[in-house]
Amino acid sequence: MGNTTGEDLGTKNVLLGITGGIAAYKAPLIARGLTNLGFEVHVIMSESAQQFVTPLTLRTLTGRPVYSEMFPELPPNACEVEHIALADRADLFLIAPATANCMAKLAHGIADDLLTCVALATKAPILLCPSMNVNMLSHRATQENMRTLRARGVSILEPAIGELACGWEGAGRLPEPGRIVDEVRRVLYQKDLEGVKVLITCGPTCEDIDPVRFITNRSTGKMGSALAEAACLRGALVKVISGPVSIEYAPWAEVVEVRSARQMLHAVQEGLTDADVLIMAAAVADYVPSVYRDSKIKKGDRLQSIELSSSPDILSTIRPLKEERFFVGFAAETENVADFAKDKMIRKGLDMIVANRVGQPGSGFASDTNSGVIITPEGVLDDFEQMGKDSLAHKILDFIRERL
Ligand code: CTP
Repeated sequence: MGNTTGEDLGTKNVLLGITGGIAAYKAPLIARGLTNLGFEVHVIMSESAQQFVTPLTLRTLTGRPVYSEMFPELPPNACEVEHIALADRADLFLIAPATANCMAKLAHGIADDLLTCVALATKAPILLCPSMNVNMLSHRATQENMRTLRARGVSILEPAIGELACGWEGAGRLPEPGRIVDEVRRVLYQKDLEGVKVLITCGPTCEDIDPVRFITNRSTGKMGSALAEAACLRGALVKVISGPVSIEYAPWAEVVEVRSARQMLHAVQEGLTDADVLIMAAAVADYVPSVYRDSKIKKGDRLQSIELSSSPDILSTIRPLKEERFFVGFAAETENVADFAKDKMIRKGLDMIVANRVGQPGSGFASDTNSGVIITPEGVLDDFEQMGKDSLAHKILDFIRERL
């Protein structure tokens, strides 16, 4: 993840608060990740944070002064009230790591240093990334403080579970810097698909012949994954039904793993009841072995051929359940791309079809880019050349949003 297009977040101003836990050593990587995306990053450090990481490191990485003192020495004619200016400038106040002490102060409105003063003064959304010893985290006081803060609209990214610096195992790890940067992107993204329920099928299907062999195709799930991430960033509630893939989906999507076309059909039938939009980006097998053999086919069996039968066509099967839902299909074509795709759209009762040119470099399976056409019953909407799958995902979602 990382360089999704769609909305330009680069002009946004992120205030990064760092408090004094051992996980502060990860804060420079968070600052780096945010500046790499083009965010303007301003850092405020508590006094104890400076025991773990130096202001010089953060100043070097962000290219800006680091703030920590409530009453710094100012030039004689400076008259800006620092904590108010920082608070007003922020589009988001991210505190990572947020210690138990910091959250306790925020929950009770205590403002005894620059960081907590800014947290009280800002109107920007606040995102906390708690990190501490497992027993400190599960303590009733900490849990109650977190509940209080959530009830006030503060976002809290749950700590990860694993080995803790103090020697204990459990919940309390600061999530990886990349995960925190992704969360910042999501919080700041324009939510033009807020609450829209999107069901996306991704990847190939695998049709088993025996316990060791199967029929599949070249799909990697990249296009479906780009759609899932873009929809999540824009506020949609996303459910992914995925065939076997090696990519990771956006952390906010619910993922249902399936293997065969038949399993995918059942998962789509179930998921459809709670969906406004269906995007069938999966490359579903058209043919499946007629018989599955429980034991491995041996060389000595002298197998000459494998009998195949047609798999269920998912879109055609669920067509009667469509009602008001918006259905988008994909078509992988090597020739007559627009004509074949238009025919498929009509045959399968779709509201939109995205046709990819496959079999050429920079488009189709496993590629990071795609070229092809987007068609609706009104005609060709867009003819795109070698476009990143992330950007294409946002373009497809723009067209869907206009039609909901
Ligand atoms: N699809 C489906 N069920 C299948 C095969 C495909 O629902 N058994 C969906 C795909 O997810 C895609 C659309 O139908 O959204 C078109 O898929 P494609 O493989 O291009 O078309 P086919 O219908 O399989 O036609 P052909 O193989 O002849 O091109």
